[in-house]
Amino acid sequence: MMFKSIFVKLLVTYLAIIISVIAVLSLFISMAYSWYVFDQKQQELEKTGYYVNELVNKLERKEISQTELNSSLDSMGYISDSSIYAIRIDKKALENPKSIQLGENLEESYLFSDLQKILNGENVFRKKQYSQKFDMYVVFSGIPWKTNSGISGAILLFSPISQISSNITKLNLVIWIMALVLIILSAIVIYFNSLRISKPIKQMEIAAGKLASGERSDDLVVVNSADEIGKLAKSFNYMKQQLVGIEKMRSEFIANVSHDMRTPLTSINGFVSGMLDGIVKPEDYNKYLTIIKDETLRLTKLTNDILHLAKIQSGSIRLFRENLIVKTILDSVISSTRALVEKKSIELALECDNTITVYADSDKLKQILINIIDNAVKYTRYGGEIGINVSLRYKPSVTEFRIRDTGIGIPAEELPLIFEKFYRVDKSRSSPGGTGLGLNITRSLIELHGGKIWVISELGAGTEIIFELPQ
Ligand SMILES: Nc1ncnc2c1ncn2[C@@H]1O[C@H](COP(=O)(O)OP(=O)(O)OP(=O)(O)O)[C@@H](O)[C@H]1O
Ligand SMILES: [Mg+2]
Repeated sequence: MMFKSIFVKLLVTYLAIIISVIAVLSLFISMAYSWYVFDQKQQELEKTGYYVNELVNKLERKEISQTELNSSLDSMGYISDSSIYAIRIDKKALENPKSIQLGENLEESYLFSDLQKILNGENVFRKKQYSQKFDMYVVFSGIPWKTNSGISGAILLFSPISQISSNITKLNLVIWIMALVLIILSAIVIYFNSLRISKPIKQMEIAAGKLASGERSDDLVVVNSADEIGKLAKSFNYMKQQLVGIEKMRSEFIANVSHDMRTPLTSINGFVSGMLDGIVKPEDYNKYLTIIKDETLRLTKLTNDILHLAKIQSGSIRLFRENLIVKTILDSVISSTRALVEKKSIELALECDNTITVYADSDKLKQILINIIDNAVKYTRYGGEIGINVSLRYKPSVTEFRIRDTGIGIPAEELPLIFEKFYRVDKSRSSPGGTGLGLNITRSLIELHGGKIWVISELGAGTEIIFELPQ
């Protein structure tokens, strides 16, 4: 349960690693120090031993007096903090240890085995040995007493261990106090670092929970780092803003649709009621029924557009692409708008080579062209002109369509908006039948083909819609 939070996980893992590393390191340093101290002591005792060897040989050769030797041994013993013995033993005597008389109370059990080694020419060193003679633990070093005629005995040095031990204990104390301080310092750093890593994650978790339960809040996750967590938090914030945006769009969409449906339904209801109540005279029936028919058509168009939009957005629309002769498609689209064009006495010029092809879905391309040409006709005054130009472009290979009119134009600040859903420039001047979905559907269909669309327009002078589709 406790280990469920990332913060605790990070904290425990880091601490475990740091503590073990520091503990192993401290143990290692402390062992290395103890080894070093004993090694130094061994070297010191052996060096002293060699010097004693020298001196006793000098005494044998009568180069120095016993007094001189004693005073030298005293000072060496003092300097090396040790008791020094030079013992002459016959190797054979060791075969029966009990017969040996070492004197000076030196008969200690470990010594006999050591003496055997020493007389065989080995150096012996004991780090920690209890000595009955001194009644304490000692460091013991024994070396062969070498003379010209061979090994004639042993030189033994005993040094109390207490000094060395207290040094080692002191240093161990320093090492472990430092280790503790280091662990505490790292724990503090680890604590804040774990907090820094886990805090945005925790915030995101809470925010995601709120988002999922539909709770509305505008507060974003605070990001201070540029690492993966920082990036994740940024993406999360972005996602949240997008979701809020989508939610806003959804409610706007519903509001727009309801509004666009209510207007025709209200007028249909009004006229039908008028007829039933007898307020509308039978001779006017034709006029009002025509209006009702137009309104019904408008509702049908709105419903179709919305269905179409929903299909595009859900990604369920499938394109059946083939190589199409553009001219054929255009001819059929133009003939379907002919009636309206002629009614407004609009001059329509088409420039398109018979050879130009495009790789597209024939029905979708027709719909794209109908939407754009329908706009051009709708927003061009009586007697205006519409020019359609299709050409091939290379690098990249696209077919470019330009539909130009001499209509009312679009204000510059409205240009980026005309492709939005339900967006209609100044509703009073737009055609009454429009839903504002035409260009949005058009753009979606073009993008579905991997193409793009843009617009150039001058208010009062005319508009040019340009779009490209891959060949
Ligand atoms: N050729 C054009 N000249 C001037 N304004 C245009 C032209 N084409 C589009 N517009 C403006 O852009 C708006 C959006 O166009 P869109 O085709 O999406 O909607 P609509 O024509 O109003 O309705 P719908 O096409 O759904 O019947 C229009 O309402 C109009 O204000
Ligand atoms: Mg339109």
